[in-house]
Amino acid sequence: MSLNILKLKNQKNGIIALGTHLGILQSMMDYDYLCGKDKPDLVGIIASGKKSLRLFWGDHEKMIPVYSTIQDVPKKTRLEVTLFINLLSGRRAKSLTYEVLKEFPNLQGGSIFAENMPEKNTLEIIHALGIKQFITGPASVGLLIPGHLKLGAIGGTQGDQLVSAMLFTAGNVAVFSSSGGMTNELLNLVTKAGQRVSFALSFGGDRFPILTPKQAFIAAEKDKNTKAIVYFGELGGYDEYEIVEMIKKKEITKKVIAYIGGSISEMFEKPPQFGHAKAMASRGEETAQAKTKALLSVGVKAAASFTEFIEEVKRIKIKKVLDSSPSSQNDKMQQIQNRTPSLFINSVSRDVGGSVEIIGQEMLSMATKQSFGHIVGSMLLGRQLRSKQTAEFIEFVMKLLVDHGPYVSGAINTMIAARAGKDLVSSLASGLLTIGPRFGGAINQAAAHWLEGVAENVDPHDYVERIAKQHKRISGIGHRKYRTDAPDPRVSIILQFADKLKKSPHTDFAKNIEKVTTAKKANLILNVDGAIAAVLLDLLTEKERVSQNELHELIDIEFFNALFVLSRSVGFTAHYLDQRRRDEGLFRLSPKEVGFSE
Ligand code: ACO
Ligand code: LMR
Repeated sequence: MSLNILKLKNQKNGIIALGTHLGILQSMMDYDYLCGKDKPDLVGIIASGKKSLRLFWGDHEKMIPVYSTIQDVPKKTRLEVTLFINLLSGRRAKSLTYEVLKEFPNLQGGSIFAENMPEKNTLEIIHALGIKQFITGPASVGLLIPGHLKLGAIGGTQGDQLVSAMLFTAGNVAVFSSSGGMTNELLNLVTKAGQRVSFALSFGGDRFPILTPKQAFIAAEKDKNTKAIVYFGELGGYDEYEIVEMIKKKEITKKVIAYIGGSISEMFEKPPQFGHAKAMASRGEETAQAKTKALLSVGVKAAASFTEFIEEVKRIKIKKVLDSSPSSQNDKMQQIQNRTPSLFINSVSRDVGGSVEIIGQEMLSMATKQSFGHIVGSMLLGRQLRSKQTAEFIEFVMKLLVDHGPYVSGAINTMIAARAGKDLVSSLASGLLTIGPRFGGAINQAAAHWLEGVAENVDPHDYVERIAKQHKRISGIGHRKYRTDAPDPRVSIILQFADKLKKSPHTDFAKNIEKVTTAKKANLILNVDGAIAAVLLDLLTEKERVSQNELHELIDIEFFNALFVLSRSVGFTAHYLDQRRRDEGLFRLSPKEVGFSE
C-alpha cells in the first residue's frame, strides 16, 4: 500500500462517494469551488432511494448522479474515479469498499469515515489493497492536499472554516494524527504559526488503521514539498518505534515535531482504556512517556506537554509560503454564504437575459429555426437532438397519432365528457386518463420488452413464452381492428425509418416477435405502439448515442409514452370542440345497448 501525494496533486481526481453525508459532501464541493476548479472532484454517489443528490457548486445547485449499485455506474464515470469516500456505517463499510477496489480501474485510494468497523473487516481490506493504493481509516476524517484535494470532513465542513484556516495554499508541513478533531486542531495550529500545510490526514483511532503512521511518514518523505512533519500520536501500540527505526536508517530525514498524548494514564494503577480502541498502554513501551523518550533519542522534537508542542510548531524554521488563494475566493465565499436552495431544479428551461432559453436555445430562435420534431424530441430527451433523422421521425409520429377515429376509447370518453357539459380541460383529461397499458400507453413497456430481448439476445419464441409464463401480454403486440390480413398502414411507414439506419436490432427483434405471435392469432400484429418503440430505440442508440443505462432510465421515467399523449391530445381536443359545436346534450345508452348478466 502506498500514498503518492505528488501523483494525486498532478492529476484530475474523480471521487465516488459510498453513501451520503450532506455536510461532508457539500464541504468537498465547496473546497473544490473555492480552489477555483471548473468542476467538482465528486463524480457520483452510490446510494439507494434517489437518482441524484442536490449539492451546491458555489451558489448554483448541481445534481450529482446517484447510482443504486456500482454496476449502474457508467463506464465513462468509472474511468474518471481515482478516489472514494466511504460514508457508510461501520457494519456496512466493508462490502462496498471491496467492490470499489475491484471495479474502478484507476482507483488510487480512499477514506473510510465510519467508526466501529469490525477489526476482521479492516484486516480483510488491508489484505485486498493494491500496492499502489491507500485508504485512511476506519474512523478517519480523510485526506487534505491544500489547493488540490479535500477527501472527507478534514479541515472542517464550513466554507469559512476552510478559508480562515488558510487551507488553500500548498505549504511544506505535513500533519498527521489518529484523531480527526486533533488533525483539524493541528491544521489551525500550523497555519496560525505562519506555516502552510503540504498535506494532512487522520489515521482513525482503530487498533488497525489501514494506512499506518509509518506509511504516512514514508509518503511525507517522498513528497518533495514536505519539509517538516507535525505528528500527534497516542499511547498504545508501537507505531512510533517503527518511525524511530526509519529515522535511524535515514529513511526519514525530514524534521519531525511530535507529541504523544495520554501521559495521564501513568497516574493510574491499572492502564486505562482511552477513547480510541488502540489508546491503551498494556506494556511499558506503549506509554506516552516511553514513546516520547524513544523519539527524542533520534532527534525528534518530541514535546513533553501539549503547550511545549504548540511552541515547537511555532518555532518551525521553514521559509514561509505566500498565500496564493484564488483571487476570486472572496467573491466565491460570498456566493457560498448567501446561497439558498431552490424549491425546484429543472434543466428544461430558464430565464436568460429577459428571454426564455429552452434546452439551451433562446425560444424565438428555436421556434423560427427548429422543426417541431426537433423541439419536441430535444425537450423530451432533455438535450438538443443530434440527428435530423430523429427529429423527422418524432415529427412524423406526432402527425400520425393525432387521431384514429371517434371509435377509440379515449376519443369516446372525451366526447362523453363534452356532451356532459364539461369544459375543454376536463374533457381532454377524460380522454387522456383512458390512455394506458392497452390503449396508447403501451409504447413504454414495448420499449422495455425490445430492450430486454435484444440486450439478453433472447430467441423470439423463448421471449414470447417468457411473457406468457408471467401471464402477461406483450405490449406493442395486438390490435382490436388490425390483423395480418388487414395490416395497420401506419406501422409499415413507421418501420421504414429503421431502414435508413446502419443497424436496427430492436426493430428486427420486434418484427421477429410478431412472426411468433401472429402464428398464434392473426390480430397479434406488431401494433403502432410497438413499432414506434422499436424504431425510437434504434434511433436513440445509433443517432443520439444514448447509452443502455440512459435507455433504461428513459423507460423508468416513461419517456416513450409521451409521444402518444402529446399527439393524441390534438385529436381529443378536436373531438371536444366538434361535440361542443353539435351540443347534442347528455349522452346516455339504452338498456338494450348495455347487457345485463347475473
Ligand atoms: N400478448 C399476448 N397475448 C395477447 C396480446 C398480447 N399483446 N394481446 C391479446 N392477447 C391475447 C389475450 O391474452 C387473449 O388471450 P386469451 O383468449 O387466451 O385470453 C386474446 O389474445 C384476446 O385478447 P383481448 O384483449 O380479449 O382482445 P384483442 O386481441 O382485441 O386485444 C389489445 C387488443 C387490447 C390491443 C391487446 O392486443 C393488448 O392488450 N395488447 C398489448 C397492449 C398494446 O400493445 N396496446 C396498444 C394497442 S395500439 C394503440 O393503442 C395505439
Ligand atoms: C389508436 O391509434 O388509437 C389505435 O391504434 C387504437 C385503436 O383502437 O384504434
